[in-house]
Amino acid sequence: MPVVAMDRQRIFRYTLYAVLSLATLVVVVVTTQFLLIPAVTYIWPQLETPFYDLGFFGAYPTRDYVSFNLSSPRSTLIRWDDSCDRGNVFIDPGGPSPDHHGPMILDGRGNLVWTSDQYETTTNLKVQRYRGNDFLTFWSGHKAKTMGTGSYYMLDNTYSVVHKVDAIGDGLRADLHEFKITSDDTALLTVYNKTQADLTKMGWFRGEHGWIIDSIFQEVDIADGRLLFEWKASDHFNAADAYMTNPFGGYSSGIPFDFFHINSIEKDSSGNYLISSRHFHSVMGINGVTGEVMWQLGGHAEEFTDISNGRASDFSWQHDARWLDEEEGILTLFDNGVAWPHVDAPYSQGKVIRVDLENRTAELLHSYTSLEHVRSSSQGSVQFIDIGDAEEHVFIGWGSSAAYTEHTTDGELLCETHFAALASFWWERVKSYRAFKSLDWHAMPKAWDPSAAIEGGALFVSWNGATEVAFWELQGTVIRDGQEQGEWKELDILERDGFETSFPLPPQLAKPQGEGPYTHFRVAALDAERNVLRYSNIATRPAGSASGYVLTSLAGMLCIAAVLGIWQYRRKGWKAADWRQYAQSAVDRTKYQKLW
Ligand SMILES: *[C@@H]1O[C@H](CO)[C@@H](O)[C@H](O)[C@H]1NC(C)=O
Ligand SMILES: *[C@@H]1O[C@H](CO)[C@@H](O)[C@H](O)[C@H]1NC(C)=O
Ligand SMILES: *[C@@H]1O[C@H](CO)[C@@H](O)[C@H](O)[C@H]1NC(C)=O
Repeated sequence: MPVVAMDRQRIFRYTLYAVLSLATLVVVVVTTQFLLIPAVTYIWPQLETPFYDLGFFGAYPTRDYVSFNLSSPRSTLIRWDDSCDRGNVFIDPGGPSPDHHGPMILDGRGNLVWTSDQYETTTNLKVQRYRGNDFLTFWSGHKAKTMGTGSYYMLDNTYSVVHKVDAIGDGLRADLHEFKITSDDTALLTVYNKTQADLTKMGWFRGEHGWIIDSIFQEVDIADGRLLFEWKASDHFNAADAYMTNPFGGYSSGIPFDFFHINSIEKDSSGNYLISSRHFHSVMGINGVTGEVMWQLGGHAEEFTDISNGRASDFSWQHDARWLDEEEGILTLFDNGVAWPHVDAPYSQGKVIRVDLENRTAELLHSYTSLEHVRSSSQGSVQFIDIGDAEEHVFIGWGSSAAYTEHTTDGELLCETHFAALASFWWERVKSYRAFKSLDWHAMPKAWDPSAAIEGGALFVSWNGATEVAFWELQGTVIRDGQEQGEWKELDILERDGFETSFPLPPQLAKPQGEGPYTHFRVAALDAERNVLRYSNIATRPAGSASGYVLTSLAGMLCIAAVLGIWQYRRKGWKAADWRQYAQSAVDRTKYQKLW
């Protein structure tokens, strides 16, 4: 054989091997993903959770809906107790994986209740009381690195924006970290302001005119937008004392140094404030009249004697400091312990700390950890919730780790939900700035109705944001040439089950008692007493489903291939040698043709 032909043959052979290996890989992956894992988890359901956390279903598995165009996380309940079933969870999934960064409400088991893509990046979604009514509040706007420029939104229980609150002052924009409504119906909010400061103490040739991001907080009258109080960190603290380091920060206006990083504000009954500074590892009391720093717990300040062997004041990079019991001096915070590249603790914790302001002592009362002791490099929250019967639970959002947990006040872990794979937490593909739980969010959307859509022999229905639907009632009618040919008939009733419920549409539904087939369907949303809350759009069965045609044609092609294969087998037998022959002969066209 000529040399050239040999080479061509070899190239052909290697190409064939490569294609075959690739095909094998695809077959293995497809079999594992679509056959093996589903089969294994069907037989051993307890394996679904470890598979989820290992990322077998992807970093951020989602659920898609037929009657709704946005997806929601397919959460997994790592630990479950029925006492976590009540109430709704409020999160704001951000990061590279989610398809939209809007607000999101889930039920206790992780089913979608409401989400929206009508807002920009959202943080800090929660229910707050203002003038005796519950509002859904959140920040929305543009997030740039560690700060945000945007506005705060207050939605009533029909999901209509009733108030939009902004920071007060020239060039000042509302920041993502805090929006807290006080019992005086005022709002506490954070502002990150790029400005100049003397940074000579920081060294490394930083000058008198360095650049910082100043941490400002304001108290604003929600009704008339009056500025009631303003405080800024640069009046009281020096950037050189920050624990956060940034070797390039502070030299130019392009890279200002975020030295203080305020991330929560509370107002107490005597009119003073409690604030948290992540980059100073400290929570502090601020005088509500003079702005003076009255006390500092944690960080460089050693004003408090820690009577818990350092565990009450050793928190670092913390978030969400709140008074739990102001009289008793008990506060809660989320102790991150980590802020890459700074690692100061092996894992993050929720903490309850008692401070005795008179005697300057601090004591750790409780701490809460997640099952896997996750480490959250940023964000996070701690909330005490009243679950009724004079009992409280502690609800923790793990910030940059896509998880929330519920504990007894003593620290026992009751429930843990992951809304992304544990294996992906480190990569922060999905995160929620904070996570809240509320037992009394009751809402009915004003601007949109329940949504019904027919696909593949079933009718799907959902109503984004509606919390009071208990049953769905399927109704059918006949509409010809735009004319209704009779009444709407009740065909079926189902209990609401998760975000989307589906009614099968069997042929007999289409041909009842000789009245002719129903051509059109709608669904009534019913409350627990079976009162109609609202009707869906009218859905009609599509003439023929496109996917049906695709499947039929595919099956047809497979049949033809099988018949051809059998014919070939009967003619020549089925020996391995034949395959090699086919392959070799493909190089040589004449030989190839002879063989066939
Ligand atoms: C989803 O539907 C809403 C309302 O019909 C619409 O405003 C929005 O743009 C849609 N979003 C996407 C991603 O298609
Ligand atoms: C915000 O920064 C600007 C300079 O960038 C400064 O003029 C202004 O005073 C600052 N505002 C406050 C409230 O500190
Ligand atoms: C401070 O210490 C004194 C003496 O031990 C004690 O009587 C007092 O109750 C303490 N104050 C608080 C607020 O616990």
